[in-house]
Amino acid sequence: MPSETLRAAVIGTGKMSRGHARGYQGAAGVELVACADVSEAARSQFASEFGVDRTYADAREMLEQEKPDIVSVCTWPPLHAELTVLACEAGVRAVLCEKPMAVHLADADQMLAAAKANGTLLCINHQRRFRPRYVHAKRYLDAGAIGRISQVTSICRGDLLTDGTHLIDMTRFLLGDPPIEWVFGGIDLTRRQNVDVVNGMGFAEWLTAGTRYGHHVEGGALAILHFQNGVRANLEIGSIARPGYQKFVVNGTDGRIEISGDQPEPGEPELRVCPFGSQPITPELEPDRSMQVNVEEIVNSLRTGRPHRLDGTSGRATLEAIMAIFASAIERRPVPLPYTRPDSPFEAALTSDAISLG
Ligand SMILES: NC(=O)c1ccc[n+]([C@@H]2O[C@H](COP(=O)([O-])OP(=O)(O)OC[C@H]3O[C@@H](n4cnc5c(N)ncnc54)[C@H](O)[C@@H]3O)[C@@H](O)[C@H]2O)c1
Repeated sequence: MPSETLRAAVIGTGKMSRGHARGYQGAAGVELVACADVSEAARSQFASEFGVDRTYADAREMLEQEKPDIVSVCTWPPLHAELTVLACEAGVRAVLCEKPMAVHLADADQMLAAAKANGTLLCINHQRRFRPRYVHAKRYLDAGAIGRISQVTSICRGDLLTDGTHLIDMTRFLLGDPPIEWVFGGIDLTRRQNVDVVNGMGFAEWLTAGTRYGHHVEGGALAILHFQNGVRANLEIGSIARPGYQKFVVNGTDGRIEISGDQPEPGEPELRVCPFGSQPITPELEPDRSMQVNVEEIVNSLRTGRPHRLDGTSGRATLEAIMAIFASAIERRPVPLPYTRPDSPFEAALTSDAISLG
């Protein structure tokens, strides 16, 4: 395949689109050519910030006019499926859709089906798989630095769909993506207080709709993921979590690996490898270029046909675990995977008044 410059476009030019734009502008072999957003203010701001002169109010029109090779879907999650399917059907070669993949498994399945039918590479942006602290931790784990992994503790603030999606995805990554056998979880139904509806990520409608990023959220969750290989992960999310964002402790037969996450305590290293019986290692890490490396891997996958680290089937596996945790919390029992309910058990329980946030 000739190594022509690939043309990229962004749908939804809000906060997270900045990371995608920087990724496209930093990566070799790609050019950011256009954007679409229903908000005139949002698309003009993005256009001037990134020097993109072709802007559209309508994503469909942009796809028809620009025929981009790669499209980022950076809208709120309830729109991910519709816009991803639109892009696949328009002949886009790769879609990099923001996380969480969707808000229902049925939507995720539609996205995967559209990608398959149109030969589109579909990636879900759990970009932490490219972040140095996690990449190096995985290398140490693969090299046997702490022996056989026995247990992981995974901590983040926020809620299951918004932030827990990164937490579960990273837990799966650190363990080598083994299948999950069952999950057990509880959710905090306390309605979130002290929300910044102007600057807070995805809280624009909180005071009127009580939703974040356009979907229902719980106050926090505690969950166990039991993997088929016998390893367990204990997740702490949101209101019930200890401090930290995307923080992990991986325990093994011969030691422990600690990953600080985005909000380290003073003096806490990003990554610490603690083999039993010898001094801890705190490796030097290169600067974070995760979105650029992510885009470079998309270019490489399109040119060579090699798989991408953030493939849609992996995004779906993470969404399936989230939905199973919701089901477990509502039904108060462990839930085996595969979990196949097409809609969200959490949303269904809220809208039928089986549970309520208070
Ligand atoms: N990967 C990460 O680390 C990370 C971090 C933050 C947010 N996110 C995710 O990114 C996504 C976007 O979040 P955000 O904080 O950037 O939201 P945002 O509100 O800042 O931006 C969303 C944009 O989408 C636009 N939009 C709405 N409907 C549209 C449509 N039909 N067509 C085109 N544009 C439309 C809005 O006008 C807005 O400008 C969410 O899925 C969120 O979970 C990911």
